[in-house]
Amino acid sequence: MEERIEFVSNSAFDSLYVCHEDQKVLGLLGFRIRENLEESSRYGEVSLIVVDQGARRQGVGRFLMDFAEKLARDQGCIGTWLVSGFGREEEAHHFYKALGYEITGYRFVKKFGFTPENEHVSPFLS
Ligand SMILES: CC(C)(COP(=O)(O)OP(=O)(O)OC[C@H]1O[C@@H](n2cnc3c(N)ncnc32)[C@H](O)[C@@H]1OP(=O)(O)O)[C@@H](O)C(=O)NCCC(=O)NCCS
Repeated sequence: MEERIEFVSNSAFDSLYVCHEDQKVLGLLGFRIRENLEESSRYGEVSLIVVDQGARRQGVGRFLMDFAEKLARDQGCIGTWLVSGFGREEEAHHFYKALGYEITGYRFVKKFGFTPENEHVSPFLS
């Protein structure tokens, strides 16, 4: 979880929120605004959500998603969305569906075969 905190806290796009109790981190939420050019509208994107293993199924994830939806509403968004890959059906996809999210499409990905460590050209990381 520390690695994710560091990565997102260095992001130029995401805001990171931490849910904690008694100095213990229970969960993280990454949030960003996405412009929707087709409709000239904005969505809030949940760019990261993770709940500590020992704190799952106690409502922390729902709390973080409710918070993301409030952030989105407050910033004039018409909804929220997120990307979730195959292989997370049992856990995350049940969670999103329970919260009213619908699957509306596919994500098409093409990997370039380099990482920032072996390739110095990366305008977003300079
Ligand atoms: C997915 C995740 C964020 C859910 O967080 P959580 O705090 O456990 O979720 P909540 O307790 O708020 O669950 C709300 C509802 O979602 C559904 N749900 C949550 N986890 C579920 C699971 N493993 N299986 C089935 N339904 C689930 C339930 O309907 C649940 O309500 P209930 O407990 O009253 O039945 C958490 O499991 C997690 O961090 N997983 C690993 C990281 C991850 O997969 N992130 C998403 C990447 S796309």
